[in-house]
Amino acid sequence: MIPKSLESELQARVAHAITPREAAVDVMKALQVHYGWLTDEAVAEAAELLGLATLQVEELATFYEMIYRRPVGKKVIHVCDSIACWTLAGETLLQQLAERLGINVGETTADGCFTLLPCCCLGNCTEAPTMMVGDNIYNRLTLQTALVYIEGERRLIEGGLR
Ligand code: FES
Repeated sequence: MIPKSLESELQARVAHAITPREAAVDVMKALQVHYGWLTDEAVAEAAELLGLATLQVEELATFYEMIYRRPVGKKVIHVCDSIACWTLAGETLLQQLAERLGINVGETTADGCFTLLPCCCLGNCTEAPTMMVGDNIYNRLTLQTALVYIEGERRLIEGGLR
């Protein structure tokens, strides 16, 4: 159950939208921040806030790859798997990061810090290969620089700075 303050904030967001669907991603993202992922409870709460059926929210949630319908780590590492990054070693990078993190793609590290996922173009093609960790984008990656950035993100998590 979400706190009253968050509920009021989201009700205001929905009220200012031209249609409730326009606010759907914002509502789902806010609930995801609150719960850590978009739980079934969050889907039901989003549906009520938006005046939509839970199935409609479910359809939207499964369409957007940055909405997570299963538990994830404190931060998700999205490695771009689209053409510009892929041709500049993005695909290799994804597998190499999985090995270095000790997980398979799609899994979460044992310490709960990171979930590793491929993603569609991050709109940052001129800086390929690219990854996004939480809300931060990292450019022109090599395996070594990616690992340095991930270690920096780990320190932020451990320091309570997300
Ligand atoms: S192809 Fe990777 S950012 Fe566009």
